[in-house]
Amino acid sequence: MAMKINGIDFGSSLILAPMAGVSDVGFREVCSLYGADATYSEMLSCRAMLHNPKKTEFMTVDSPYEKIKIGQIFGHESDIMAKALTSPLLEKYQIIDINMGCPAPKIVKNGEGSALMKNPPLASEIISSCVKASKVPVSVKFRLGYDRDISREFGRMCEESGASFITLHARTTEQGYSGKADLDAIARLKASVNIPVVGNGDVVDSESYQRMLETKVDGVMIGRGAQGRPWIFDELKGKRFDGNIFDVIKRHIEVLRKYYDESWLTLYMRKHLLWYVSGVEKASAVRLQLATSPSIDNSLELLNKIFNK
Ligand SMILES: Cc1cc2nc3c(=O)[nH]c(=O)nc-3n(C[C@H](O)[C@H](O)[C@H](O)COP(=O)(O)O)c2cc1C
Repeated sequence: MAMKINGIDFGSSLILAPMAGVSDVGFREVCSLYGADATYSEMLSCRAMLHNPKKTEFMTVDSPYEKIKIGQIFGHESDIMAKALTSPLLEKYQIIDINMGCPAPKIVKNGEGSALMKNPPLASEIISSCVKASKVPVSVKFRLGYDRDISREFGRMCEESGASFITLHARTTEQGYSGKADLDAIARLKASVNIPVVGNGDVVDSESYQRMLETKVDGVMIGRGAQGRPWIFDELKGKRFDGNIFDVIKRHIEVLRKYYDESWLTLYMRKHLLWYVSGVEKASAVRLQLATSPSIDNSLELLNKIFNK
């Protein structure tokens, strides 16, 4: 796999998925250090970018270790989305991605995210307006469809509307995260368009990665498989992780401490810490303590005992 978009070289084309509430700047940094060739921001509201830029600024902090930075936007009004693309907050991104796959009810009810798959003419208008307004390539991330597979037609529409590449999470909106990603649909989409296709869904190890490669995609995106295992990207490139998990956690936290206060971080990091210790046998006794830890330093002390003693 080797994807190039307008001269931007994706290297091995292993990409960290956008994950709202998960892919924070610290996580993006450690994934980049362990092989992620490109990283997405959490999804950014175009309306908020125009009306409450302070809130979005908070979400656009980045790391110098990220290799290709992709900013993901969402919205349902082509004029507002095109205007948002001129925001200085987006200047750091080499690519802008439009979210047409989010199944969250509060997004869908506004006609945003995967609701746009029910309205291809509006989705097309949004893509072409964004392509026109953007100084950088525009990509689209979508699902199979809302309740059935329309991914080939939708992918062709994205291409005709000016998208530089597309990413398919091969589940319908109605499926949410249940069932299995439909790899045959990814292969069919790849065969139906002339722009690069990134395959996404259920890649968690080298077997699932090999199955994804059989679809002939140009890039592979990993979301949940990187939670607690940011080194998965290097592993899939054949490089064994021989570092100390504690050091990875410390790095993740150090980055976040530059931006966020301790009480917010304490609550926020709990899920990441539980992912980092999942599968670590020695950690089973402290899982509950981590889940209720009163401070980051207390969590680090618990983790130090597991990983360093
Ligand atoms: C907690 C969480 C948050 C997510 N947030 C976003 C998002 O903001 N934008 C988006 O396009 N997809 C989002 N997704 C979907 C992922 O990018 C990805 O498509 C999905 O998890 C399937 O890939 P995986 O099987 O590798 O996890 C999210 C997924 C999870 C689990």
